[in-house]
Amino acid sequence: EGFLPFEHEPYFAFGQPEVAERQRVAYREVREKYVGQSFPLHIGGRAVAGEGTFEVRNPADTREVVWRFPRATPAQLEEAIRCAGEGYQEWRFSDPLQRATIFKRAAELLRARRMEFNAVMGLENGKNWAEADGEVAECVDHFEVFARETLKWAQGKAVYPMQGEHVTTIYEPIGVVAVISPWNFPAAIPLGMSLGAIAAGNTVVWKPASETPLSSLLLVELLFEAGLPRNVIQFLTGTDEVLGDPLVDHKDIRMIAFTGSKEIGCRIMERAAKVQPGQRWLKKVMAEMGGKDPTVVCADGDVEAAAVGIVQAAFGYAGQKCSACSRVIAEESVYDALLERVVTLARELKVGSPEENAALGPVIHAGSAERIMGYVENGKKTARLVLGGERADAGEAEGGYIAPTIFADVDPRDPLFQEEIFGPVLSFTKARDWRHAIELANDSEYGLTAAFYSRDPEKIAAARRLMHVGNLYVNRKCTGALSGTHAFGGYGMSGTNAKVGGPDYLFWFLQTKTVAQKY
Ligand code: SER
Repeated sequence: EGFLPFEHEPYFAFGQPEVAERQRVAYREVREKYVGQSFPLHIGGRAVAGEGTFEVRNPADTREVVWRFPRATPAQLEEAIRCAGEGYQEWRFSDPLQRATIFKRAAELLRARRMEFNAVMGLENGKNWAEADGEVAECVDHFEVFARETLKWAQGKAVYPMQGEHVTTIYEPIGVVAVISPWNFPAAIPLGMSLGAIAAGNTVVWKPASETPLSSLLLVELLFEAGLPRNVIQFLTGTDEVLGDPLVDHKDIRMIAFTGSKEIGCRIMERAAKVQPGQRWLKKVMAEMGGKDPTVVCADGDVEAAAVGIVQAAFGYAGQKCSACSRVIAEESVYDALLERVVTLARELKVGSPEENAALGPVIHAGSAERIMGYVENGKKTARLVLGGERADAGEAEGGYIAPTIFADVDPRDPLFQEEIFGPVLSFTKARDWRHAIELANDSEYGLTAAFYSRDPEKIAAARRLMHVGNLYVNRKCTGALSGTHAFGGYGMSGTNAKVGGPDYLFWFLQTKTVAQKY
């Protein structure tokens, strides 16, 4: 399609001292450049203040206010939606090659600033170097992938011909898309949804999570720098009272692209179904929600590989990923050996500051830590605690540090097995045999990711057929989907199966026009 073949952005090798030093320097520079600053909203191409500001705190030590963002007013929301509507009238007819070129330029700009973006993210949401780097590299991949997808979808698709008519099937954009995104992937998730929208020719009202606005704002400004017309994205921060329901309910919003909790996803789905006075379409809703992701280990599975994959997927970013492994389901004959190995590896994880690149950092805030500890205290009564089960000591720092926690012999009806905890808490459950293990894995309202360890072609074939998830990983961990390769999105209450980064993703943001013309 005119670009070089796609390659995933390689990660930094932080094990090399000079690379680690560059990340440390980037942290120092980010602290000098951004800490203590107040940032703007972007409406109609102008950077503006709101009515007052709110503080963004460093989860590694919540006494530190890192920066401030504006509280947008209801009038500013109205203005942003109006500007997005106006911007749409031009952007819808923009040349797909120009869109692709902007994304390619943005990829180049971001490649040069990855260390800086990593540090900003670390200070906002507590990701350590490698976790932040994985996400920022995913943003580079998104730019590259969407550049290609833009051109691909602009070609339309072939239909079966008929005598006497020339028929084309083409894809057109739909309108103004509200993008509402979470703090756990504050760059890659809203960027994926926004690029989907604008690659297709729509315009965006982007509302980032209040915990992590700068990771989003820097991407918006990067896109402007790369040449994106400034009225294509409106960037609004502030309270849920102003930017939650009123944004979803607004008659001029054509689609809501949301990633976050099940509770809010269901709420958006319900509210968006109501046709408002003056609304001339049915709203589309993309809602990507939670997970309760299992790793199944069969008797013939590679226990060592499984243990390593489980520990990475369960405790990476303190388990605060919708894709995190939170249930291990193992056949009896390997259960004890696997449990012991996972406990040994998890015990080695150093809890501490993400800025110092500790393996296990804080959870996002105090309320979150309390909620997680509620599950832990309850679990002590219903299951066998084998590791952790308490807050971790992080020295002077005030933050939601929780020791890696593992429960064994968890009953499938237990909240530990059924509810998304979003913290460093892992449950083990014993299966009678591998078929039972698949049944247990599927015993969940969610269906996002799963890992399956076996070397037996029959078991693997059964898992491929039967596992009720959007992303099944055989003999590898269940986190770390790569844009362009592992189209990401789940089944069941994990949401609408958006499949971001996949070959069909842009279709979400398009409508299909058939034109039949008689000769
Ligand atoms: N895409 C991320 C992963 O696969 C989760 O959002 O881990």
